[in-house]
Amino acid sequence: MNRPEILRWLREGRPSDLKTLWSRADAARRKNVGDAVHLRGLVEISNHCVRSCAYCGINRAHRGITRYRMTAHEVLACARQAVGLGYGTVVLQAGEDPGLRRAAVADLVRRIKKDTGLAVTLSLGERDDGDLVAWKQAGADRYLLRFETSNPDLYARIHPSLPGRPSDRFALLRRLRALGYEVGSGVMIGIPGQTYESLADDIETFARLDLDMIGVGPYLPHPATPLGRGGLPLLPAREQVPNTELMTYKVVALARLVAPESNIPATTALATLNRTHGRELGLSRGANVVMPNLTPPRYRVLYEIYPGKACVQETATQCGFCLKERIHRLGRHVGAGPGSRRRSASALPA
Ligand code: 5AD
Ligand code: FES
Repeated sequence: MNRPEILRWLREGRPSDLKTLWSRADAARRKNVGDAVHLRGLVEISNHCVRSCAYCGINRAHRGITRYRMTAHEVLACARQAVGLGYGTVVLQAGEDPGLRRAAVADLVRRIKKDTGLAVTLSLGERDDGDLVAWKQAGADRYLLRFETSNPDLYARIHPSLPGRPSDRFALLRRLRALGYEVGSGVMIGIPGQTYESLADDIETFARLDLDMIGVGPYLPHPATPLGRGGLPLLPAREQVPNTELMTYKVVALARLVAPESNIPATTALATLNRTHGRELGLSRGANVVMPNLTPPRYRVLYEIYPGKACVQETATQCGFCLKERIHRLGRHVGAGPGSRRRSASALPA
């Protein structure tokens, strides 16, 4: 898939033509990763954050929310629940929280691995090299860090950097790969100021980085954030990528076509835009993963990165059953085991 083709699909509006994109993405998904849908149990372990990302509802400047950090005991209980529900992976996600100390996280990873044997994915932001090394040694398998947009100016406008700590997520992604993590990244779709050209760059970047996991979702304005309050102007309609459900499916489908072997979730942000069919349509247009929420309900409501997040009122068990039911109705099955990225022999690096 070359760049003009990517751009053409991003701008395509005719449902009959888009059917071709959906069926190409679905065929590539089936051929490369099969009919299994892997379940990754998401535990939002802390909503403390030192960053001021202009779009994110748990950024440090948002004073109106109660902050929490789960205990190791609570996180372990969630991991055991993941085993009971048949998930192969637990994802530990948080704001960028220095209160999640290197040794404590390493210990937690070791205990989860020992007690449950689950694959462990970390999504804890831009952390020190020593942290990433220690957590890999403790047994962490994967790391998620979205680059959010490949346009450096737009990136800088929505990610005020910490004094003395320039942010280079591409360098971090390379480092994570060198350390032996399976590496995931992705972008938000429809950020004010995001052009079609820059979204095409993002999609080409997925392929260039040879990502193991690609997570994309619509940008959803949070009224308590600078961006949600209108901090950046929208571009003229011809240029501005809309933060719609349709645009999200296009990016899921194109991600599958440029990175056929990667694991791609139908994200909660997508389910937030279309609660009844969002995940199913994502799974039918390139995705092969879903991330049921395991966070205890009393914390779940406090992890409000955007408003109206799907599944905030449900329990872990309800989401587990709901998703399995949805997967079966699609004629697919729940993947067994960790569901790591498989590389075909021809795709192995020389
Ligand atoms: N709308 C959509 N996605 C968001 N994220 C954070 N805030 C928002 C928002 N307002 C996404 C970012 C981040 C991931 C964990 O959640 O892409 O990497
Ligand atoms: Fe949470 Fe369906 S996945 S209610």
